[in-house]
Amino acid sequence: MKNYNWAILGCGKIAKKFALELKTLPNANLYAAASRNLENATSFASEFGFDRAYGSYEEMVKDSNVDVVYIATPHSHHLEHSLLCLNNKKAVLCEKAFAINSKEVKQMVEASKKNNTFLMEAFWVRFRPKFKTVLELIKNEDLGKLKMLKSDFNFLGDYNPNNRLFNLDLGAGSLLDIGIYPVFTSLMFLGKPTQIKATPIFSPTGSEESITVFLSYENGATAILNSSFKSTYKNDVELIFEKGTIKYDRFSSEPILLHKQNKNKQITFNAGPNLGYQFEAIHVMECLDNNLIESPILPLSTSIDLMKILDDIRQEAGIVFPNHD
Ligand SMILES: NC(=O)c1ccc[n+]([C@@H]2O[C@H](COP(=O)([O-])OP(=O)(O)OC[C@H]3O[C@@H](n4cnc5c(N)ncnc54)[C@H](OP(=O)(O)O)[C@@H]3O)[C@@H](O)[C@H]2O)c1
Repeated sequence: MKNYNWAILGCGKIAKKFALELKTLPNANLYAAASRNLENATSFASEFGFDRAYGSYEEMVKDSNVDVVYIATPHSHHLEHSLLCLNNKKAVLCEKAFAINSKEVKQMVEASKKNNTFLMEAFWVRFRPKFKTVLELIKNEDLGKLKMLKSDFNFLGDYNPNNRLFNLDLGAGSLLDIGIYPVFTSLMFLGKPTQIKATPIFSPTGSEESITVFLSYENGATAILNSSFKSTYKNDVELIFEKGTIKYDRFSSEPILLHKQNKNKQITFNAGPNLGYQFEAIHVMECLDNNLIESPILPLSTSIDLMKILDDIRQEAGIVFPNHD
């Protein structure tokens, strides 16, 4: 197990949560914090114990000691910041949504290949024990075919036209911010849909703030997905099979509920410490240990497929990002 010098690019809200959990990993060295503003970088570095602080992202990627960069800027900037890192041969773990559209994701993937440098979307839930337990249940419980999937991610957000949740220039909208989780769930369990219907609600800035998506599949399965910044917190997944149902809250450490043969069972699992951001970082370092430029668990083809479904939903719903599409 090698030690890796991590850098954070963009010292915002999620970067703080990630840094707290990265700190718990023995082979992750908290090396550099990079912000557009040196004061912000310095305060972030001292709060979490990073060795260096950079007042620009460009300066940080020129530091030959940086091995891997966690990109935590708004999704509108993921293409620019991934290319900056990859073209300077820095391995990249980039937050979801991976970019704004498929055209951008393809450029990121090409840059990874051209530079022979690791790239992965920070889809952290894929690496958490709860998701692994659900996969095992599906494999072992003889539930028959998955016929219907319901999935939500809602929370009540304060309206602020400048915030990345509502500012179209920063990739605003519930779909790319939180709706991406239900879409990812549908991709993992049902694959690519053949038909998409979507009903969006727009905010005063013209950004989408709530959306319901109906998906149907070649094998006759269907999915209903919701995301919203306008209702109370809800983050459920329900997988309805021919012979049983699996239900869980995506993030909580509550047991998974299995309903089978008219009986309910609570499936417990070891959620591990923290919220679970450390698992994706552990996986990145395992990939780097093996000189991989792509994860075998979350390959770039998954990120491409995910973004293509998001593009198709946006097209159906009339959601446009004027500076990107
Ligand atoms: N995995 C998860 O659970 C999770 C949770 C929340 C968010 N996210 C994702 O993480 C990304 C960041 O979200 P966040 O909530 O942390 O956002 P945030 O608090 O607004 O922080 C984003 C940071 O990006 C940097 N930045 C660079 N260019 C910017 C610009 N033009 N406008 C604003 N900020 C800019 C800023 O850092 P500096 O000023 O330091 O340069 C800013 O603090 C998003 O893609 C989001 O979808 C993931």
